[in-house]
Amino acid sequence: MIHAAFRWACIDPAVLWAPLRPFFPAQPARILDVGAGSGRDAAWFFRLGYAVTCVEPDRRLWPISADWEADGLPALSGLSGRFDLITISAVWHLLPDHDWSAAFERLADLAKPGARLILSLRLPPMTGADDVAALAQGAGWQLHDVCRRASLQAGNRTAGVMWDWCVFARVAPA
Ligand SMILES: C[S@@+](CC[C@H](N)C(=O)[O-])C[C@H]1O[C@@H](n2cnc3c(N)ncnc32)[C@H](O)[C@@H]1O
Repeated sequence: MIHAAFRWACIDPAVLWAPLRPFFPAQPARILDVGAGSGRDAAWFFRLGYAVTCVEPDRRLWPISADWEADGLPALSGLSGRFDLITISAVWHLLPDHDWSAAFERLADLAKPGARLILSLRLPPMTGADDVAALAQGAGWQLHDVCRRASLQAGNRTAGVMWDWCVFARVAPA
């Protein structure tokens, strides 16, 4: 029996990320996975040939042999360097909205010019990409695409949970 809090750890990353693959950079490239959880997606990104950095505030979730940062949004203070793709899956609704602006700005600092940010938003509690698009734009992230999908977890799907997968491109701030 899997604890309800960790059912997301069993999702197949190849299925989860299939619609987003066209937005991935060519390998080799650097991916930053923020709120990486158990490392399910990070391990898959690595197998695809990417250099992966993980940030996860909850140390209980870390795989034993990996180099992880105990860090979180909005500060991400332990990170340096710049990334080609930043992924934030099933995390943003856990972040208080007063932190969103600072989080987008910090993520912009960590992005190479032209980098992408793929951010999934849980509906509810959020209502869609419009909840964040203007804030992101102010920090230098232009909304490029949105893909709305039902939850891959049976219980959440039955309950009507949807996800907006927002793809942003790093541009000069407005
Ligand atoms: C539902 S899990 C998703 C984990 C993984 N990204 C996935 O898609 O399976 C949410 C994760 O966000 C992390 N988290 C919560 N608040 C965070 C914050 N402020 N910054 C970064 N990660 C956070 C939690 O510790 C947890 O691992």
